[in-house]
Amino acid sequence: MRLHRTPPTTTARRLVGLALAPTMLALAAAAPSAAAPRADAQQAQAQAAQRHGGQDTLRRAAPRDLAVGTAVAGGGHHAEQDYADPFAYDVEYRERMAAEFSSLSPENQAKWEYIHPRRDFYNFYPMDAIVRFAEENRQVVRGHTLFWHSQNPEWLEQGDFTDEELRAILKEHIQTVVGRYAGRVQQWDVANEIVRDDGSGLRVGPTSEGGNIWITRLGEGIIADAFRWAHEADPRAKLFFNDYGVEGINAKSTYYYELVQDLKAQGVPVDGFAIQGHLSTQYGFPGDLQANLQRFDALGLETAVTELDVRMVLPENGIPTSAQQAQQADYYRRTLQACLAVEECNSFTIWGFTDKYSWVPVFFAAEGSATVMTDDYERKPAYYALQSTLRDARRGGR
Ligand code: XIL
Repeated sequence: MRLHRTPPTTTARRLVGLALAPTMLALAAAAPSAAAPRADAQQAQAQAAQRHGGQDTLRRAAPRDLAVGTAVAGGGHHAEQDYADPFAYDVEYRERMAAEFSSLSPENQAKWEYIHPRRDFYNFYPMDAIVRFAEENRQVVRGHTLFWHSQNPEWLEQGDFTDEELRAILKEHIQTVVGRYAGRVQQWDVANEIVRDDGSGLRVGPTSEGGNIWITRLGEGIIADAFRWAHEADPRAKLFFNDYGVEGINAKSTYYYELVQDLKAQGVPVDGFAIQGHLSTQYGFPGDLQANLQRFDALGLETAVTELDVRMVLPENGIPTSAQQAQQADYYRRTLQACLAVEECNSFTIWGFTDKYSWVPVFFAAEGSATVMTDDYERKPAYYALQSTLRDARRGGR
């Protein structure tokens, strides 16, 4: 993935994150939706929903067995922007999130560097606030993520741990985080992006080159352990692999296809395979997406789309052409249709719903406009493409 701005150092992000945490806690406690008794909270939410679309929202359009989700902005690249924490301070953002979606994913708030910034300290407040918000709004939560090569804290990456210590650290982290939210998280992305881009194998190698610290130090068997520990900590949560570049049938997705069969044969509690779906209109649409989901479904797995966004190379004036908007809407629609056509594809999440907070311009040079609403929460053709596709599926009895 190309980086157009130098990513902030882990330390810088951690400090900002920590500095914000107490404020967020205070604010979350003061916000009516967090502290008020249930009836009041529900009334406030009904009023908010009325202001932001009424019945006319994505969650209302969706078939009952499909969770329609968004990432909840916070941490990561947000910490470097000139706006306050969106989830804590942007009232319209919160209200629309409640009105439009039935599933929430912490964009960064449950990643290692954020939730476990020091070896002996967990920063739970932001994830707690997301889970509480979800419950108040009758939304489910996708946990993201427990076992990854990226956004790990410095103490972990620079620490001089023995293999035995590392194993104990991972076990403790998974048990603590998954255990804390047991019964309140529907799906966990246990292992994120563990396969090399070319599908030639697992990400083994130095962390500076994208190696996964756990697999590199502890061997492939640690993947099964991670799933087992997560399952012990919350037997009800569905446990997933999650990756990008696995939308179609290719070497990378096939690597997962084989890995999952091996693990299932050993009795490892793997429940699902998820495609992130970071697409760009400058590339063709992965037309075999449905067939790919279908082959995982046929293994008895749940499938999910977890991070869909469709970016584009913007013209000089920064405004997408109508052809670009139409192509983007088409990509959103086809991804959703693929999921809807696969029986156990029960969760469909977009990686943010407004361009105001999208990670795309920060990470992809000259690209943007990747979400379904403008900076001002104006619905784009892509929004309506999702809405009408959901309605059709609901009417069609999915
Ligand atoms: C991104 C976040 O959106 C940014 O805020 C952060 O700075 C970097 O990570 N795949 C994933 C997500 O699994 O966690 C990433 O999220 C996007 C790619």
